[in-house]
Amino acid sequence: MSPFHITRTLPEDAMAAALRADVRHGLTADPKTLPPKWFYDAHGSDLFERITELPEYYPTRAEREILADRAHEIAAALPARTLVELGSGSSEKTRYLLDALTDLHTYVPVDVSESALEQAGRSLAAERPGLDVHALIADFTAGLTLPDTPGPRLLAFLGGTIGNLLPDERARFLTGLRALLAPGDALLLGTDLVKDEAVLVRAYDDAAGVTAAFDKNVLSVVNRELGADFDPDAFDHVALWNADHEWIEMRLRSLTAQTVKVPALDLAVDFAAGEELRTEVSAKFRREGVTGELAAAGLDLTRWWTDGEGRFALSLSVAR
Ligand code: AVJ
Repeated sequence: MSPFHITRTLPEDAMAAALRADVRHGLTADPKTLPPKWFYDAHGSDLFERITELPEYYPTRAEREILADRAHEIAAALPARTLVELGSGSSEKTRYLLDALTDLHTYVPVDVSESALEQAGRSLAAERPGLDVHALIADFTAGLTLPDTPGPRLLAFLGGTIGNLLPDERARFLTGLRALLAPGDALLLGTDLVKDEAVLVRAYDDAAGVTAAFDKNVLSVVNRELGADFDPDAFDHVALWNADHEWIEMRLRSLTAQTVKVPALDLAVDFAAGEELRTEVSAKFRREGVTGELAAAGLDLTRWWTDGEGRFALSLSVAR
């Protein structure tokens, strides 16, 4: 059995405070918004797992294909002794990297979900004798401190989750990641790519309605955590392609004029009939854009891999 540590860098009540601030800010804004990170309670995480298996939702399969085909090239380009993974979740796709990184000493999965870290971290530590697993309970959008582990370091941010950030948030986030790295360390970044609009919209509005349930789940989270009285059936799930920004937006459209109470915030929120609440931005990328955004953060893109259909990319960029 190898060493397994778990460190909480997220104060117990910080998540609750962040949710209150986000809901107050987002539901009093015009247009109304809620940040996508609040989708992922236990039920939402379950729904997301089901999304990854839908025929319409290609990103997970495309990224897994790249990792399966290219893990050895990634490991050869950056023979990391420490692998840090942001938003590690179940660490399912990470196994390709762990198998290929033959000099690996420490794996640092980072997630807000303690249960996911416990499960994935402990089984990995048990499976890989000699691998030090140092899990971090942290919100990686809020600034991170990494344990002192041997270099070179490879920082992996997979799944295309960077697309949930708006351009100015991405710039700040990437600069923050660069600050965690020494020159020669690298970032492995998963980005979904711009493609046919119909393919994109279908991926976020599947026939079985799993994404609609996922979208509406944020209302149930606000109901449970803040005592709100959202009726999820009083909203329609909407997915649309914003061609100017090259991102998918998910929205919840109020079917009627209604007032929703949020007692924990002493707030009453009016929705007009047809009014939309934006719940997610999922940006899609092009190689030039990714190269430029990384360069601006001090990261030089050295490798670019896509799946066979060119739907999704993994890039490797090296800290200057
Ligand atoms: C987990 C953020 C990568 O944007 O595709 C899936 C979340 N939203 N279906 C994405 C999501 C709707 C997903 N990420």
